Amino acid sequence: MLSRGLKMTYDVHKIRADFPALSLQAHGKPLVFLDSAASAQKPAEVVNRMAAFYESSYANVHRGVYELSEKATDAFEEARRKIAAFINAKSENEIIFTRGATESLNLVAATFGAAHLKAGDEIILSQAEHHSNIVPWQILRERTGVEIKVVPVSDDGAFDFETFEKLLNEKTKLVSVMQVSNVLGTVFPVRQIVEKAHAVGAVVCVDGCQGVTHFKTDVQSLGCDFYAFSGHKLYGPTGIGVLYGKEAVLNGLPPYQGGGDMIKSVSFEKSVWADVPARFEAGTPAIAQAVGLGYAVDYLSALGMDNIAAHEAGLTKILMRALGETDGVRLIGTVPDKVGVAAFTIDGVHAQDASMILDRQGIAVRTGHHCAQPLHERFGVTATIRASVGLYNTREDIETLAAGVRKAKKMFGV
Ligand code: ALA
Repeated sequence: MLSRGLKMTYDVHKIRADFPALSLQAHGKPLVFLDSAASAQKPAEVVNRMAAFYESSYANVHRGVYELSEKATDAFEEARRKIAAFINAKSENEIIFTRGATESLNLVAATFGAAHLKAGDEIILSQAEHHSNIVPWQILRERTGVEIKVVPVSDDGAFDFETFEKLLNEKTKLVSVMQVSNVLGTVFPVRQIVEKAHAVGAVVCVDGCQGVTHFKTDVQSLGCDFYAFSGHKLYGPTGIGVLYGKEAVLNGLPPYQGGGDMIKSVSFEKSVWADVPARFEAGTPAIAQAVGLGYAVDYLSALGMDNIAAHEAGLTKILMRALGETDGVRLIGTVPDKVGVAAFTIDGVHAQDASMILDRQGIAVRTGHHCAQPLHERFGVTATIRASVGLYNTREDIETLAAGVRKAKKMFGV
């Protein structure tokens, strides 16, 4: 266990040594990893502790009375408690383990949708949403006839609050928005969105994937009814995610999937569902991954989310300045209240080509529409290059990126 306290000096070079992947080379150059918004690298501590868990404490959970199964169950439930504390949920019963944020959002659409939404009811989304917070609602629309309303974003990538207020009415039953855009980096005004939505009786679901990774998240202070995120972006393993839901709201929902562990009793005449969180965790869960996410949360808590946020805020400024000052670079998403995610295009260089040139210099960025096609359409582009910072990035990483962009321009003679 790390013992770095909140008042630590943030020694990013020391922290980088915790992440073996950051010492890799790509095309013979030191790897410059600027794609943490897609998936973050893992501290050795998380990987090693997961291996130790498999070696010393692994069995199925909630099923055996033998010692090993009880050890595994304790570790699994301890992870749930850590995650509840990490996002300040009232109780660990409000933490449902899923495969990832996509499953969390599909779970809300399927269960809340089935229980509470009917033809003519309205759902509000934003134009910036990731496909995983658009498509589940479209599937629901096909099934039920609910209507989807969309809040635009402004030219600088801000949530258009005025239009949002106009769209709200007594037919609005649910608002589902991201906390932070995975393309624009914009931090959405979630608390104010919740206040307005609750005033018309709507429930609020938040896609927290890109928020929980960058700064301290407090679901009680946000006031949202649901909050979804993925483990792999939070320096934990893939295959595990979380849906937070207020306990009273969750207990009012029907199950998502049927199977073992989600019932109190089963007979051919009638089965009785378990209370939350078990009701939504049918089948053998991703046991070691959940435990591993708990280890990732230990690692982040030891570093201190406020320290991480302060480090990344410095990098965000450097990133936006470095790209903003490069001729021919168009940044998409320039509001001041943003995290270290910079999506951009380079005049005269296709995003795919630019990314390949960057890759040859060891720089890993993401290219394409980043699962946000409607947002790219709004900005009149089909693809952007996206650099995103994590807790381990440095000023030098960004300088290398800026030099790489200049090189790409030179190669294309622009
Ligand atoms: N949603 C992830 C991203 O933005 C995969 O890259």
